[in-house]
Amino acid sequence: MSDITKQFTAINPADVPSKVLRSGDKLPTVGLGTFGSDRFTHDEVAAAVKDAIRLGYRHIDCAAVYGNEKQIGQAIKEVIDEGVCTREELFITGKVWNDRHREVEKACQESLDDLQLSYLDMYLIHWPFPNYHAPGCDGDARNPDSKPFSVDEFMDTWKQCEALVDAGKVRNIGTSNMTIAKFEKTLPLMKILPAVNEMEMHPCFQQQELFDYCMKKQIQPIGFMPIGSPTRPERDIAEGDAVDIQTPEIQAIAKARGVHPAVICIKWAIKNGQVTIPFSVHPAEYLSNLQSSFTDPLTDEEFASIKNCECGSRLVKGQVFLWEGAKHWKDLWDEDGVIAQ
Ligand SMILES: NC(=O)c1ccc[n+]([C@@H]2O[C@H](COP(=O)([O-])OP(=O)(O)OC[C@H]3O[C@@H](n4cnc5c(N)ncnc54)[C@H](OP(=O)(O)O)[C@@H]3O)[C@@H](O)[C@H]2O)c1
Repeated sequence: MSDITKQFTAINPADVPSKVLRSGDKLPTVGLGTFGSDRFTHDEVAAAVKDAIRLGYRHIDCAAVYGNEKQIGQAIKEVIDEGVCTREELFITGKVWNDRHREVEKACQESLDDLQLSYLDMYLIHWPFPNYHAPGCDGDARNPDSKPFSVDEFMDTWKQCEALVDAGKVRNIGTSNMTIAKFEKTLPLMKILPAVNEMEMHPCFQQQELFDYCMKKQIQPIGFMPIGSPTRPERDIAEGDAVDIQTPEIQAIAKARGVHPAVICIKWAIKNGQVTIPFSVHPAEYLSNLQSSFTDPLTDEEFASIKNCECGSRLVKGQVFLWEGAKHWKDLWDEDGVIAQ
């Protein structure tokens, strides 16, 4: 018995509800986020992955740009060697970073090697354009090579993702940070449709229209920053950003139930029909997040009251991906239904 399972009671993964994807694969509704930013070392994140799997997590949200796939790969190997679970029982997501859109197979193979896996369960295009910025760069930094969204370039990247499915290296493919306008232009051109869209979603930024669109198209929404990333670094906080866990609605429900407001955010995501990928390296926190997927769901009244938290507070604005001549970070999000050029 590992130390962590002496301190905490593990959850039976069978108790965690799943969503069935268009491929028939099952995606557990709570996964562990792995972006440690500069707050946690790669080893700390990998240790969390290892203990989270020992405590019942089966879905891990990775990305090459997080810089920690080597450490996470070792963690996954160790839990499989220990007999905690088999490879097939895990759902591992990877993402191609913006500077690798012209060499997706190579990028994917590097992730597979780092993660010590022969296939990924899901591979996402992390952002729908190849605009690159150095990890950790200042929010006002601009890369002169950045360009507006191009249907042709995106479809070239998508076709490379489709080829990975055909080659058996990836079981499902999906998008991240897409908009309805970009889907409208690209879905008709795809051979394999996206299984998921990973998108920012939390009580203060519910993205109802995009969420409904994805559901209608059988694209399962995965919500990132489900707690509103309350302790993200200063440089990622803009004036006017809402703090989900401090809203009166979330606080009132948390107080009445005697739980942390973060737990209410997770329960909202689950009742809303999302898959959610909260991050934490603290076992009590990530265990309570997993538990929230199947215990004490929000009542209809509680769920309805959280509708009032919506205030359009997008936290990942993406301004570092803007091209010369772009006016505002809103140009990335096609809010008027037109792809900005
Ligand atoms: N596709 C994309 O473009 C994209 C973009 C952003 C994020 N993501 C993914 O989404 C994941 C989650 O985003 P995120 O980490 O920024 O934000 P988040 O999950 O909303 O917030 C994480 C923070 O919330 C706190 N927390 C978590 N569970 C808690 C609990 N039960 N009780 C109290 N506090 C709790 C922790 O703070 P402390 O550490 O202070 O305890 C943790 O650092 C990332 O790790 C990444 O995998 C994807």
